Amino acid sequence: MPRMKALVLSGGSGTRLRPITHTSAKQLVPVANKPVLFYGLEAIAEAGITDVGIVVGDTADEIRQAVGDGSKLGIDVTYIPQDQPLGLAHAVLIAREFLGDDDFVMYLGDNFVVGGITGLVDAFRAERPDAQILLTRVPDPTSFGVAELDAHGRVRSLEEKPRHPKSDLALVGVYLFTPAVHEAVRAIEPSWRGELEITHAIQWLIDQGKDVRSTTVCGYWKDTGNVSDMLEVNRSVLETLRPGVEGTVDESSEIIGRVRIEAGAEVRGSRIVGPAVIGPGSVIRDSYIGPFTSISEDCRIEDSEVEYSIVLRESSITGVRRIETSLIGRNVQVTPAPRNPATHRLVLGDHSKVQISS
Ligand code: G1P
Repeated sequence: MPRMKALVLSGGSGTRLRPITHTSAKQLVPVANKPVLFYGLEAIAEAGITDVGIVVGDTADEIRQAVGDGSKLGIDVTYIPQDQPLGLAHAVLIAREFLGDDDFVMYLGDNFVVGGITGLVDAFRAERPDAQILLTRVPDPTSFGVAELDAHGRVRSLEEKPRHPKSDLALVGVYLFTPAVHEAVRAIEPSWRGELEITHAIQWLIDQGKDVRSTTVCGYWKDTGNVSDMLEVNRSVLETLRPGVEGTVDESSEIIGRVRIEAGAEVRGSRIVGPAVIGPGSVIRDSYIGPFTSISEDCRIEDSEVEYSIVLRESSITGVRRIETSLIGRNVQVTPAPRNPATHRLVLGDHSKVQISS
């Protein structure tokens, strides 16, 4: 079988997503306490690919710190710096030396494909079309590449972020290529947004009469700043969590169902109903943590109730009754308001969204 590599794109595109990637790499947004990028890298490893090039930009330090040499994920990582976010096809251009003449899967580090990519990679290896794209139906295709298929399901055309989409089939950020793509990325011109678009390179392959196939998948997620989508992907991953207690749980606490208490976490006088995960170093005291909740590392939840929510690292919630369907960022403090005067006192960052029941 031909050898395959992976090219993982983890540069900063400059557009920060709301609300939690103002301050860090979008590929490190946690799902069930694990960066979204890691799910992609694990899917690549599971598909039997170990040679992985990661293209990094502004947030290179953060990505390198999280991934290292890749050995803990069973892969061998080569970092490829991209000085400016000049597009996905540009990333292929600058990765030419790493890619050589091997087939490769290109994986956008902020994309999440439920169920991995092993089946897709195996089928591609067996049939070797010139390129293979993944599509998924989305409610608003205007922020994606959009495909138009012919009556036989073959790709007729692709458009990047069209104002009037020809279908609801969005390009998922996972592409399989033979070396035929190298000529394509050299042939195209920058788009209106000044980027070399991979969508255009694939269209070029289609125009040259190359064999470009598509597979439509469901179970796709990417952080578009939509909190309910994020809670939903978190929920579905928590359903498959490996339960276990690595931290400490005292006798007056109750752990029910699929719950993971990570090393160094401490649960005292609390009730945790899974699926839920409590990150390393977090302290849960006299509280209730309900289903579909991820508490990241070094959080402190005291005398409070949290359910169907995500709490990011180093945040604290003290003395607050039921918090639900919420996304709480890093280093946030949630406390009750003083009884008198009965007002709400808020210090909220840009683009925050708060619902107050009074
Ligand atoms: C890129 C691609 C787009 C694709 C999307 C998936 O968009 O250009 O075709 O649908 O990734 O994540 P970008 O993230 O650069 O806006």
